[in-house]
Amino acid sequence: MNTVKAIYPGSFDPVTNGHLDLITRGTKIFDHLVVAILKNSGKNPLFSVAERVEMLSEALAGFSNVSVATFDGLLVDFVREQHAQAVMRGIRAISDYEYELQMALMNRRLAPDLETVFLMPDGKYSFVSSRLVKEVFTLGGSIEGLVPQFVIERLKARVPNGHP
Ligand code: PNS
Repeated sequence: MNTVKAIYPGSFDPVTNGHLDLITRGTKIFDHLVVAILKNSGKNPLFSVAERVEMLSEALAGFSNVSVATFDGLLVDFVREQHAQAVMRGIRAISDYEYELQMALMNRRLAPDLETVFLMPDGKYSFVSSRLVKEVFTLGGSIEGLVPQFVIERLKARVPNGHP
């Protein structure tokens, strides 16, 4: 029987409940899902790659068909290395689509056999992004319900003047 392995790449700085909602959906479609953190994103991350691996691993401990990995270089090279057949990405709103389509088609040009699968998170996460979570927390706003509680604790330790 054919099994399908998918890679869910991203920065995950930090993981949000929107990411976790998408991963939960992905585990029902794919036999195995690898959540892959890009190592050199050039985005000046708040959390180190090791910290992001720890947070994702904690959040995903309950899943038997998900693993956490890191990669650098081209995503398509990592996908080949992993012997995966698909890339999973989330589309929250139509505004995500343009960038995602561009990446998917570039990846298709680089690796014609590879399929990108777009999933939609629950509508209640359609406005949630790691960037906004960090901004709101840093400026003293509540991010309760948007990220796991242990991520809030890590943010409190990292951003002392954030939301209490
Ligand atoms: O969570 P993000 O930051 O939106 O994820 C972007 C990511 C990691 C999926 C993208 O930047 C990526 O795949 N980078 C790896 C380098 C690469 O393959 N670039 C060409 C993509 S078309």
